[in-house]
Amino acid sequence: MQLPSRVTIVEVGPRDGLQNEPETIPTALKIGLIDRLSRTGLTMIEATSFVSPRWVPQLADAADVLAGITRAPGVRYPVLVPNERGLDRALAAGARDIAVFGSASEAFSQRNLGCSIEDSLEMFAPVVRRATTEGIDVRGYVSMVCGCPDQGDVPVADVLRITVALFELGCREVSLGDTIGVGTVGQVQDLLEQLAPHVLVDRLAVHLHDTYGQGLVNTLAAFEAGVTVADTSAGGLGGCPFAPGATGNLATEDLVYALEGSGVATGVDLEDLLATTAWLSDELGRPPSSRVARAVLARRPPERDA
Ligand code: HMG
Ligand code: MG
Repeated sequence: MQLPSRVTIVEVGPRDGLQNEPETIPTALKIGLIDRLSRTGLTMIEATSFVSPRWVPQLADAADVLAGITRAPGVRYPVLVPNERGLDRALAAGARDIAVFGSASEAFSQRNLGCSIEDSLEMFAPVVRRATTEGIDVRGYVSMVCGCPDQGDVPVADVLRITVALFELGCREVSLGDTIGVGTVGQVQDLLEQLAPHVLVDRLAVHLHDTYGQGLVNTLAAFEAGVTVADTSAGGLGGCPFAPGATGNLATEDLVYALEGSGVATGVDLEDLLATTAWLSDELGRPPSSRVARAVLARRPPERDA
């Protein structure tokens, strides 16, 4: 397997992970998580979402989270923004990096944003325009790239259409989301092969949920195809409240362990990351879903103050 010599990990646990938690998570815990992650060598930590608090009450404290964290040098803290109201709030809270999030499936666009794919692009256009004018970095997400719980198969042509549209709006990078974690290696290879003639593969990231246990192998397949950015979450937390059956992201420590053992640099200190996962698991009162964290933590008591 031909892997890149270095990859970038975008840690999405504080956003994708916590948005799906059933119990209200105290703001201080969110801040504690981000600050601990900031000391692990990660350079991108998706911190929260400026979405409608009616839709995602768990992240209603987005401004307080951004105000409370200690920004580490060299670390960026992107936030999700669906519309201009979200952009206003994010800018007022001091965000310097944002992400808009579309879908390759009509059904999920309706569920997640309450509008069609076409209308979502209209909603994002002024957000991306204003943000880029103000020097804010903008990322785009495409959800349901490997299948949709309502629609079933999602044609690659539909993934391509919205990926291109997000680049045309001005997104610097587009992250391909297997929101419900159903994709297989062959599917990821095929998807990237079909996208490659139309978009710059080095501007793509992958965001592959681990629902069917395929997150790691699928992410490695994407790396082999030329992608060098992957989204993961500490402890394997994650899931979208509007995607039935969606569970955690690929765990950051599972990816870091695999890459470290294969000579691929991530800049992330596995020990520090595991200490953070142990702390989080203790706070949430349940073991992490990460295989690596479970294996390592079974051999030692959790560190309570990483
Ligand atoms: P809507 O209800 O159709 O919008 O929601 P609206 O314009 O009718 O507004 C309704 C109310 O919300 C109004 O308040 C607005 O002011 C307010 P009211 O006047 O009734 O009191 N509102 C807002 N408040 C704060 N911040 C805002 C905002 N916008 C409206 N930004 C909307 C439309 C897009 C807002 C809604 O559908 C929404 O917030 N959706 C977000 C859903 C979400 O966060 N999903 C999870 C993230 S995506 C994901 O997890 C997938 C990903 O991980 C990739 C993958 O795995 O594939 C990224
Ligand atoms: Mg996700």
